[in-house]
Amino acid sequence: MATTLITGGTVVSATGRGAADVLVDGERIVALLEPGSTVLGANLAETVDTVVDASGKYVIPGGIDAHTHMSMPFGGTTAADDFETGTRAAAWGGTTMIIDFAVQKFGERVPESLQTWHEMAAGQCAVDYSFHQIIGEVNKESLAELRRLPDEGITSYKLFMAYPGVFYSDDAQILRAMQTGADTGLLTMMHAENGPAIDVLVEQLLAQGKTDPYYHGVARAWQLEEEATHRAIMLADLTGAPLYVVHVSAKQAVAQLAAARDRGRNVFGETCPQYLYLSLEDNLGAPGFEGAKWVCSTPLRSREEDHQNQVWQALRTNDLQMVSTDHCPFCMKGQKDMGIGDFSKIPNGIGSVEHRMDLMYQGVVEGRITLERWVEITSTTPARMFGLYGRKGVLAPGADADIVVYDPDGHTSIGMGKTHHMNMDHSAWEGYEIDGHVDVVLSRGKVLVADGEYRGRKGDGKFVRRDPCQYLI
Ligand code: URP
Ligand code: ZN
Ligand code: ZN
Repeated sequence: MATTLITGGTVVSATGRGAADVLVDGERIVALLEPGSTVLGANLAETVDTVVDASGKYVIPGGIDAHTHMSMPFGGTTAADDFETGTRAAAWGGTTMIIDFAVQKFGERVPESLQTWHEMAAGQCAVDYSFHQIIGEVNKESLAELRRLPDEGITSYKLFMAYPGVFYSDDAQILRAMQTGADTGLLTMMHAENGPAIDVLVEQLLAQGKTDPYYHGVARAWQLEEEATHRAIMLADLTGAPLYVVHVSAKQAVAQLAAARDRGRNVFGETCPQYLYLSLEDNLGAPGFEGAKWVCSTPLRSREEDHQNQVWQALRTNDLQMVSTDHCPFCMKGQKDMGIGDFSKIPNGIGSVEHRMDLMYQGVVEGRITLERWVEITSTTPARMFGLYGRKGVLAPGADADIVVYDPDGHTSIGMGKTHHMNMDHSAWEGYEIDGHVDVVLSRGKVLVADGEYRGRKGDGKFVRRDPCQYLI
């Protein structure tokens, strides 16, 4: 098996940093060594097949993006990245594993929907992948099927308090699903927004002629995120279900999570880069139909109300535990433009899978989080949260050699066209300048990205079975 030595770098983990060389044999890390180590008098670098020079650079565990939607059907169309294009873009950006969502639509069986997602992903992926299961219809059958997910290596499922008539579950359904989830050792993931109330506001805004993308953010008011988050926490409390709230954007929802955690509850929250950097005023409120680029749910929040700074703060204090992208890209032409004249018809989603590691590193540059916290929220905690730790999320003997060499002196300009690899006709991050660069990416020992070239092939990524959540209090 091929051996690789990553030499001269600073290895950064969730708990510290230090100079070390990383020795890889085949797909696994076999040792972290004193820089320049010799073996039986021979310089180790001369005995391996490949040497990666990481001098002056950080060596970190590959990113894990635990919230993506490749080829997701939504709003009468399908997310523009499939597993091939989306995972290749992920690899370019230093993400070496994704957890996507298999979608059980209303009227469908859970095992069939999971099989569909397996068929879409198998042989296509650049990096390793797993699935969470979306339950779009909670009933006797799907509850029974939920119990069988761990046998499939799937240990988390998602419910929606939003999108009535599509994925929505009412409180009775949520209660039953949480009871089953708790009993089965599953992590309940929740899209926490009050969908029926949002639909009333949407109808009223449209009737007043308020049709621009900006009103997507008005209709999906923070009160409706806070309320749903609180309700989800209370139902989780009652049922004993560990709860993970996805794409948290409102500071008031963060406060609900923090309060539950202060009571010792197994309640966790993720945010996404868009809620840290972008806003209702600057982005959703952009002139004309431009704001459609940033229509996603939960929506971007008001900068005037300071949600962004408070969400950053929650990441510092562990009131929020990790950052995923909710990668769900739609092109402006032929997809987002379905909502010209009616914001409620704009497919919801932003594409960021390629930029998460860079965007969060910018938080290190700006002094918002430490280097170690960067690794923790982008790799180590996602691994622990979703039952992958030991194999993923850490550079240690025995772990998969999913490794990123990150250059703090490099630079990344994000823009349109050739500056990203996602299958989109625009970028939600156009104009962002990052003081850092993903130089080399290894996935299970194989170099996928180096010297500005892509060296992987589709099918390099494999399905990974997961253990139960390793983050419970
Ligand atoms: O806008 C979003 N988030 N689109 C994807 C579906 C979801 O709610 O996660
Ligand atoms: Zn959602
Ligand atoms: Zn999502």
